[in-house]
Amino acid sequence: MILVDQARKTYGARTAVDGVSFELRSGETFGLLGPNGAGKTTTIHLLAGLLDPDGGRIEVAGAADPRRAEVRRKLGLAPQTLSLYEDLTGAENLSFMGRLYGLGGGKLRERVAWALEFSGLAERARDRVKTYSGGMQRRLNLACALIHEPAALLLDEPTVGVDPQSRNRIFENIEALKKMGLTILYTTHYMEEAQRLCDRVAIMDAGRILALDTLSALIDAHGGAAQVTAEFEAPPAGIEALFPGGTLTGRTLRFATAKPLEDAAKLAQAGHAIRALHVDRPDLERVFLSLTGRRLRDE
Ligand SMILES: Nc1ncnc2c1ncn2[C@@H]1O[C@H](COP(=O)(O)OP(=O)(O)OP(=O)(O)O)[C@@H](O)[C@H]1O
Ligand SMILES: [Mg+2]
Repeated sequence: MILVDQARKTYGARTAVDGVSFELRSGETFGLLGPNGAGKTTTIHLLAGLLDPDGGRIEVAGAADPRRAEVRRKLGLAPQTLSLYEDLTGAENLSFMGRLYGLGGGKLRERVAWALEFSGLAERARDRVKTYSGGMQRRLNLACALIHEPAALLLDEPTVGVDPQSRNRIFENIEALKKMGLTILYTTHYMEEAQRLCDRVAIMDAGRILALDTLSALIDAHGGAAQVTAEFEAPPAGIEALFPGGTLTGRTLRFATAKPLEDAAKLAQAGHAIRALHVDRPDLERVFLSLTGRRLRDE
């Protein structure tokens, strides 16, 4: 559906996107996961035809230039920086966006009604956007991207700065859009979101893609082993020797294992009094740490 081949973009001396290649397959949800400044937004803007690449090639649905109107029509973009008119109502924002894409009359009314319902904003449709909460504005930003029924959706950090209720609504919306068969590109620096929503994930840092695969393949290749931690009332003598690489610090036993649940069950069934048992499975955060030596986020 979308092909990015060795795309490059520089701002003065800074290279924001440094030879990025990937393919967005029809119907998949593809995550671009990376920290602040990784180049995610720049990549999305290249795909959407808002920026010209300094090198490389971008194809949308077989067409070479995403700046052309008929190519752009196939894409919906929900930008990271909200693109809404605060003095207009929600319904007016949607109508305006629809008209930009050539909708009118009954079709436009039908699409606006659908988008308001879909984003849970029907009751606030006649209120000005400046009276909306941050989460409601984010939902409207997503609805605006959908007004013209695009085949592919580019979502740039669609949950940034939203309350948990709106966040859930946005997740449910994206899950519904996946079921409807939309092709989705999703950028985030929240690894939980990529884990929940994305079929494949590219890990991006400093303008480059460091790894790209399904979640389970990334975790298998770069996540390392699971860790089990058990805190005993009184640690049985020699318990650490039962688990290869096991260490006992005070009352706490730690070991890495490929079969954490089996090993945890073995510990639990051995009859020792255990205060706490914790299984830490490898996740995308560990994948990122192992690829870059840094954590995805500072907090
Ligand atoms: N208009 C611009 N002029 C100069 N430098 C820019 C511009 N836009 C982005 N950059 C730089 O390009 C790099 C990539 O930025 P980009 O916004 O694509 O990252 P990002 O992954 O979207 O980050 P974030 O998670 O903060 O949104 C950064 O170093 C940024 O400072
Ligand atoms: Mg960004």
